Amino acid sequence: MIEEMLFQILTLFPEMFNGPLESSIMKRAQEKKIIELRYVNYREFTTDKHHCVDDTPYGGGSGMVLKPEPIFRCLNAVKKDTPPGRVVLLTPQGKVFKQKMARELAKEQHLILICGHYEGFDERIRTYVDLELSIGDYVLTGGELAAMVVADAVTRLLPGVLGASDSAEYDSFTENLLDYPQYTRPVEFEGQRVPDILLSGHHKMIEEWRREQAILRTAERRPDLLKEEQLSEEELAFLCRKRNLTEEL
Ligand code: ADE
Repeated sequence: MIEEMLFQILTLFPEMFNGPLESSIMKRAQEKKIIELRYVNYREFTTDKHHCVDDTPYGGGSGMVLKPEPIFRCLNAVKKDTPPGRVVLLTPQGKVFKQKMARELAKEQHLILICGHYEGFDERIRTYVDLELSIGDYVLTGGELAAMVVADAVTRLLPGVLGASDSAEYDSFTENLLDYPQYTRPVEFEGQRVPDILLSGHHKMIEEWRREQAILRTAERRPDLLKEEQLSEEELAFLCRKRNLTEEL
């Protein structure tokens, strides 16, 4: 039997997770015991009367800094009686989270995600962290949304989470290509017809058309991804033809 994957989320705002992680596929993954989500508020690990989690920065300057002790104590507590796992700090200074990292993290049995809020962490907490992740080059009010993104992207890769028809294996990005255009009924909508090839029933030609479309779309929108993809001679020739065509127009 496959062990349930445990996510422990260290946050000052556990209620933020209720909507996104308690609906739809993430909810089902918990009901099916593929994942378990635990939220732990590190404010509960403060020892002072006012339950202070932050303080002013040494050296001066604006803003506050998250104190190391509550997070340190909380980390020790959540590591007790749980399988070995990776400690991940969500921060805009981390390595940018990509599908490859989601696949790597999906192999773990236990992830501890630490979310800061408003402010930075005391540098010394980094000693207890295995990996720092950013979900993109922008600054959020806290790590919570980033932790949700990571938990979601990792969970959908676990066996049994997605149905066979929407299996994660064939996703865009797993092959470094964006998705090809998709259509459903009706055949004609506001004067726009579904491409004839998709109605032809010719499976091999449809497959070729979809791959060509995915390559074209990736070349137009994300040429950086295309560098990672192995294109055949024919596919390269096709792309060159299309490019020359559009340049002539
Ligand atoms: N905390 C604030 N901004 C963030 C980001 N972009 N990624 C991860 N954690 C964050």
